[in-house]
Formats: sequence, C-alpha cells, structure tokens
Amino acid sequence: MENMVVVGTQWGDEGKGKIVDLLTAGADLVVRYQGGNNAGHTLVVGGKKYIFHLIPSGILYEDKTCLIGNGLVVDPEVLLQEMKRLEDGGVSIGPERLLLSEKAHLIMPYHKAIDAAREVAKGKAKLGTTGRGIGPCYEDKVARVGIRAVDLTEPEVLEEKIRTNLKEKNFYLEKFLGAEPLDPDPIIEGYLKMGEKLVPYIGDVSLMLYEAATKGKTILFEGAQGTHLDVDHGTYPFVTSSNPVAGTICAGAGVGPNILKQIIGVVKAYTTRVGAGPFVTELQDEIGDYIQERGAEFGSTTGRRRRCGWLDLVVVKDSARINGLTGLAITKLDVLTGLERLNVCVAYELDGKRIQSRPASLTALARCKPIYQEMAGWKEDISGARTLTELPAEARAYLKEIEEITGVPISVVSVGPGREETIVVDKLLVP
Ligand code: GDP
Ligand code: IMO
Ligand code: MG
Repeated sequence: MENMVVVGTQWGDEGKGKIVDLLTAGADLVVRYQGGNNAGHTLVVGGKKYIFHLIPSGILYEDKTCLIGNGLVVDPEVLLQEMKRLEDGGVSIGPERLLLSEKAHLIMPYHKAIDAAREVAKGKAKLGTTGRGIGPCYEDKVARVGIRAVDLTEPEVLEEKIRTNLKEKNFYLEKFLGAEPLDPDPIIEGYLKMGEKLVPYIGDVSLMLYEAATKGKTILFEGAQGTHLDVDHGTYPFVTSSNPVAGTICAGAGVGPNILKQIIGVVKAYTTRVGAGPFVTELQDEIGDYIQERGAEFGSTTGRRRRCGWLDLVVVKDSARINGLTGLAITKLDVLTGLERLNVCVAYELDGKRIQSRPASLTALARCKPIYQEMAGWKEDISGARTLTELPAEARAYLKEIEEITGVPISVVSVGPGREETIVVDKLLVP
C-alpha cells in the first residue's frame, strides 16, 4: 500500500472509520490530522462494535502505531476514557504505539461551556454543534491564547495560562452569555492530574512521521467530518471549525504534500447530515424514514437522528475536485435494498439554469432544486457480495452512475458494517 488519506465527501458519518480500519491492514501508522471528539468513527470487528472519537481507527491492529496530530483539538478527559475503554477490552495502547502531538490544542471546560451557552443563546438559529467545545478551542488557537498538550509537561505554565484565560472567559460567559462562571482551581487540579497520565504519550508527531517515511513505512491519514463541513469549503456557517479536506494533512500532521499517493473519498450511497444547515436532496417523507431506519442513522457522538436524503453527486463532485480524489469508497449500499426506484442528484437548477457545483451563498443554495436521474432499485440482499459481479445489475448501474458523474473510479464498496462485508475493487489497496 502507498501513503494514503481517507476523507469524507459529504457532511460526515460516511463510514470513514470502517474504511480506515479496512485499509489499516496495509499501513504501518495511522494518523488523525484535524477535528476532535466531535468525530465518531464506528468499526465493527468480529461482531463487536467500537466507536472512536479521538484515537485513530487503526488502533485495533496491535502492530500499528496511531498518532494524534497537531491539527486536532483534544479533550484530555475523552482521550483518557477512550484509552481506558480499549485497555479494559484487552487492547494494549502503551506510549510505544500511541502518540499525541505536543502541539495539539487542548479543549478546556470553558470551551465546552461557551459552545453550549452560545447554542442556547442562538435559539432557533443554532448550528447544532456537537457541544464538545470544538469551535471555541480552535478560536483560541487562532487567537494565540490556546493551551497545548506540551503545556501539560510544564505545570507552572499550564496554571498561569488557565488563570489568565479564565478571567476573560468568565467575563464573556457571565456578562454576555448569562452562564455560570468557572472556578480555576478544580480545572488546574484536574488538568494536572490528567497531564501526569498523558505526559508519556506526548511527543513530536511530525518527526515520527518523517522518520517512518524515511524508513519506507506506510502512513494512512484519517480524516474526520466531511468536505461540506469544512470551515472554508463547506456550507458556511453550518460547518465545523476545522478543514477536513485532504490538503490539511500537511498543516495538521506536519508533513509535506508530496507524501501522499492516494486520496480516497468515502461516499455514503445516500446523503445524511446531523445538525442544522442546507440539504438540497433531503427527504422528509417515508423514503427518508426508510433510509434512516435501515441505515440506523443516529449520530455516533451525540445520538441525534440523522437527516436523510438522496445521493447528491453535486456535493460529491465538489469533493472530488477540492480533495483531488484518486478513488472512492462507497458505503452502505445495502441500506438502499428494497427501494423500488432510486434518485441520484446529478446537477442543481438555480433560477432556471443548470449548475454543476454548489453555490457559496446560502440564499442561492436555498433556491437550488435537485435535478434527479431516476434509477431502478433492487430487492436482493447484497450484504454477502464480495465481488462486483455478485451485485444485482441495478446496483452495478448505480455505482457506474457515481463513477461517471464524479469522474473518479470506485476502489471499495461496503455492503455492511463488518470489516469483512466489503468488496475490494482496487486490490492494491488491501493486502
Ligand atoms: P464515520 O464518522 O464516517 O466513521 O461514520 P460513522 O461511524 O459515524 O457512521 C457510519 C455508520 O454506518 C456506522 O454505524 C457504521 O458501523 C455503519 N456502516 C459503515 N459501513 C456500512 C455499510 O456498508 N453498511 C451498513 N449497513 N452500515 C455501515
Ligand atoms: P465524523 O468524523 C457528522 C457537525 C455537527 C454540527 C457541525 C458543527 O464522525 O464524520 P462542531 O461540534 O464540530 O462545532 O459542530 O458539524 N459535525 C459532524 N457531523 N459527523 C461528524 O464527524 C461531525 N463533526 C461535526 O453536527 O452540525
Ligand atoms: Mg461519525
């Protein structure tokens, strides 16, 4: 396998975790490069379900090294919980195979308090964030007042930063948002305690990646969220506060762009979105309910019901361009089984004109109508298929339409949540 990144092409929850787990077989190191525990990546291995929010989805292979890059915002409490859960389940995760970048920013209790209070203040206009403090933490990073993992190794620096930051944050929480102020002492105590546990895991991720690449090791970068949640390229402001796109591996893990050979975009066979924001192909009818139920479309992080709709290839095509996709991994094709007819959105109609990419203006987007290509569905259970030829002709036609509209070849097709419920089209990807 060659160095590769896996990104979401829609609004997150495309099944990146499953695809990363599958591809990890051919990698030596697996790296997250942005986002935080707003992510929820689900793997089903040997019938057992695991959900990861921060630790890379490669962690179940005990001979692989997993890295958390500088581009993440890390809630240390969540990281420690995730580590404990793995250890309790018999998966060893010592510092020899889990590394947290010293430059990663830490989510603090005031970030979560601000995230929550702002959503309340926005009322109906809320973004529907995951409430994990992601946005406020990235704001502090850019404002140059953030607290980084390296600060856990220097208790006096940590304490000073928390005290200084809280003065401003408490003013904002109390006077502007009408929320409770926070006491610095228990926060300092808690972070020092967590720091003691985490210090052995903190190091230079960029350097480790450089040394690994020099030795010919293979690196798999794991994207979180999706391209249309990207703070630059997504449906702004209904986005997350980081750049999930493939190019972010450079800034978010400390590597050069020439490291990548393959860029795999994960595409759910229909569209979902959790949280607020525009959704051109949304189905608010019994077909939407059918997909939601069959696909068990509830958020892995917040448990919220995911909004469902037809596959929007305008969205996927934008992602193919922005990420430079070299291959697609189509997931959850099995969920569409049983629908008589399927619609695929191949373009939008905006003010009487046919357009091929999503407009930046939300008011223009609200006027966009989907132009559908109607396709025949299939009734057969496809979860046992392991080659394309075992799929019904209608399912193959559906896949062909995706390839034709996006111009990107399909490398993998997933027909169930389990690791083995997969059709590997590009045999070079999985050894
Ligand atoms: P991620 O955030 O992109 O990793 O995706 P999530 O884990 O949040 O959501 C994807 C959900 O779909 C998880 O519950 C997976 O177990 C499940 N899943 C992944 N691939 C398939 C598939 O091909 N078929 C079915 N039925 N479920 C799948
Ligand atoms: P994975 O990696 C789906 C959404 C939230 C909200 C918006 C902003 O599992 O695909 P935030 O808490 O990031 O400030 O929320 O982004 N969101 C996701 N939706 N999958 C995710 O991650 C998401 N991470 C954030 O629901 O609409
Ligand atoms: Mg998810």
